[in-house]
Amino acid sequence: MSTQELLQTRKDLLTIGDLSREEILQILDTAKPFKDLFTRSVKKVPTLRGKTVLNLFYEPSTRTRTSFEIAAKRLSADVTNFAVSTSSVVKGESILDTIDTLQAMQVDYMIVRHSVSGVPEYIARHTHAAVVNAGDGHHAHPTQAMLDAFTFREVYSEMTGKRIVVAGDILHSRVARSVFEVMHILGVEVATFGPATLVPETIPSYVKILRSFDEVLEFDPHVLYLLRLQLERQKANFFPSMREYHKLYGVTTERFKILRERGTWIMHPGPVNRGVELVDDVMTYSRTLINQQVENGIATRMAILYHLTPEEQKRLPLPEEIRA
Ligand code: CP
Repeated sequence: MSTQELLQTRKDLLTIGDLSREEILQILDTAKPFKDLFTRSVKKVPTLRGKTVLNLFYEPSTRTRTSFEIAAKRLSADVTNFAVSTSSVVKGESILDTIDTLQAMQVDYMIVRHSVSGVPEYIARHTHAAVVNAGDGHHAHPTQAMLDAFTFREVYSEMTGKRIVVAGDILHSRVARSVFEVMHILGVEVATFGPATLVPETIPSYVKILRSFDEVLEFDPHVLYLLRLQLERQKANFFPSMREYHKLYGVTTERFKILRERGTWIMHPGPVNRGVELVDDVMTYSRTLINQQVENGIATRMAILYHLTPEEQKRLPLPEEIRA
């Protein structure tokens, strides 16, 4: 079976591990012409005309939800944002009953974010719609990792042999897990840096653990990928204070000077905690790719939607009176 055929038969994107290296490269290659569209006065293509994309976010989001909405609209799909807080979910309707209801409305794509790991997979098993995991618990955020890989490849067209350090709160980060996977598959050397209490023992064996900023400098990453401290997910004190965290693990003014001299690229999935994982000056540094990551999120998600194929849905027959 050719790569193209494989791509056409994939219904869902739940983790990076679902994708072969060839599929990842093909999605990244497809995202490029989609990004080129953004400089035109008409930024739309008719690829998903007549299809419906539903954003089903049980957790807050700025970037991912908006990015999927714009991506779907640029593919000419109809988009509905399901507002959990004003839905029957607050009356206790179960996930399965919610999905059955939405399925009856013949939705073609469901973009799902949930605080519990595995919910997008559960939904995918119960719907004909193509399901994209937009972040589940601590587990995975595959579309973030794909847009990060696209951004990395814009800077380094050959990724093999390059080095990345993913720094910060690894324990609570679904982004870290997906970024480790995609970078490793694409041949990037991966290391991590953070408080021992926030670097789980279960990280993949290919990830090198760095214990000090001096070790980060010795590893000499091409990209330093900073993560937000996920205070809303932390049930215990993992370090004495924010100030302490910034001093030991953040990009301080002194560390930023060294990174800038070396020309190290900075990435961050957002939202950023200024003064914690980085100082303000990093935000305006010419090699900070945060806004480029956001822009690339749209093109990458367009490519992902394009490559997924919902199962054919069973259409109910038209009522007699309108059939004639
Ligand atoms: N990077 C990311 O997932 O951001 P949001 O939470 O704003 O979607």
